[in-house]
Amino acid sequence: MKFSILLFAGAAIAAPFSLPNGFPNPSPAALSTIQQQAGGTLPNTGLPTNLSADAILNLQVIAVNEIFEVAYFSSLLDNITKGVDGYTDFGAFDKSYVVESIQAIRAQEELHAIGANAILASAGAQTIGACNYMFPVSDFKSAIALAATFTDVVLGALQNVQQTFALDGGQAASGLVNLVGSIIGQEGEQDGAFRVVQKKVPSSAPFLTANAGAFAFNAVAQLFIVPGSCPASSNVSVIDIPTFGTLTLSSNNSMPAAKNATLKFDTSYTNVTSSTYHLAYISGQNAAVVVPISSISKKGETATFEASFPYEAGFARGLTIAALVNSAGPFSSPAAVANATVAGPGIIEID
Ligand SMILES: *[C@@H]1O[C@H](CO)[C@@H](O)[C@H](O)[C@H]1NC(C)=O
Ligand SMILES: *[C@@H]1O[C@H](CO)[C@@H](O)[C@H](O)[C@H]1NC(C)=O
Ligand SMILES: *[C@@H]1O[C@H](CO)[C@@H](O)[C@H](O)[C@H]1NC(C)=O
Ligand SMILES: *[C@@H]1O[C@H](CO)[C@@H](O)[C@H](O)[C@H]1NC(C)=O
Ligand SMILES: *[C@@H]1O[C@H](CO)[C@@H](O)[C@H](O)[C@H]1NC(C)=O
Ligand SMILES: *[C@@H]1O[C@H](CO)[C@@H](O)[C@H](O)[C@H]1NC(C)=O
Repeated sequence: MKFSILLFAGAAIAAPFSLPNGFPNPSPAALSTIQQQAGGTLPNTGLPTNLSADAILNLQVIAVNEIFEVAYFSSLLDNITKGVDGYTDFGAFDKSYVVESIQAIRAQEELHAIGANAILASAGAQTIGACNYMFPVSDFKSAIALAATFTDVVLGALQNVQQTFALDGGQAASGLVNLVGSIIGQEGEQDGAFRVVQKKVPSSAPFLTANAGAFAFNAVAQLFIVPGSCPASSNVSVIDIPTFGTLTLSSNNSMPAAKNATLKFDTSYTNVTSSTYHLAYISGQNAAVVVPISSISKKGETATFEASFPYEAGFARGLTIAALVNSAGPFSSPAAVANATVAGPGIIEID
């Protein structure tokens, strides 16, 4: 009896995401095909052998993100090639061009993930494996809009990764700052294309929104990883980052326009009070803006509150990150905001 229950439980846990080519661990032959599709190879220069704990943590967060992105673009590519309902209208673009582009992007993300794990392995740190993922979209237009959003989140986090590597001073500073710079540009090219597909101005703002690794990690964990689907062997659980509550615009709110507004948020952090907690916004390269919260109501496992959204106080178009924080600040950096966060990231996109 016990045995059969165990077997049943075992059978109910889906195997983590992988691709037919063996990704996240492709054979050398499969790797060479990935490199052809990606338009270039993994760097052939030496890898660091000694990294600080902070640098390792950052690389592990990058690996989690990039493996998710491979799963996302694989699902998108499948939907397009199979002509799934909702994935047949590409606006001004031919299907063949869209397929070729998403295939290249998927391969490029595979190399970002494989590269991050290769650096971790070379430095004697734990490499990262796949979980199972969910994608809260079911048509091409929304899928591209979501890809632009998570790419914006990554583009912010990579700024912080570069800073961590630079401050580290060792092999991360000499060997990885430039590599991350090349990835920031690469993801920026993708993001510009995603914006063109949505008929947005290709480049959103002069200085892209900053971010912290803890927000990028919590975003993937909250939105995209199927709960409980990361096997112990994936090492995702060794990543030492606090788990935040969720923070989302209330369903009655549409995305705000580029002007001052009052927004309503939902959070899973039900201990929220207006005396202790505030809302912090990270937008562009400006200091975080902290506002009070009001009109708190609680229903079951969700609390709802209101806060002003002072866009005209100097916010950037594109991504703004909101966080429910346990102090009024001021905060000297996105990492300092993350340090005080109980729920987030709340993701806001201004056209
Ligand atoms: C692919 O299509 C399925 C079925 O509609 C959907 O559930 C999934 O989210 C889609 N994936 C992407 C990345 O758009
Ligand atoms: C997790 O880390 C162990 C070393 O502690 C390593 O043997 C294993 O391959 C890693 N798992 C993945 C999926 O990379
Ligand atoms: C490893 O790098 C750190 C700086 O990141 C340095 O302090 C330490 O001495 C290095 N260790 C070795 C064995 O080179
Ligand atoms: C959303 O709008 C509906 C209809 O106006 C209202 O009944 C509901 O209470 C609103 N929900 C929230 C969370 O404000
Ligand atoms: C928008 O809000 C900011 C911050 O509260 C304020 O300084 C500014 O005057 C407001 N702008 C407009 C046009 O209302
Ligand atoms: C995080 O908060 C702790 C106290 O809670 C403080 O000592 C530390 O300096 C903070 N780190 C940052 C980056 O603000």
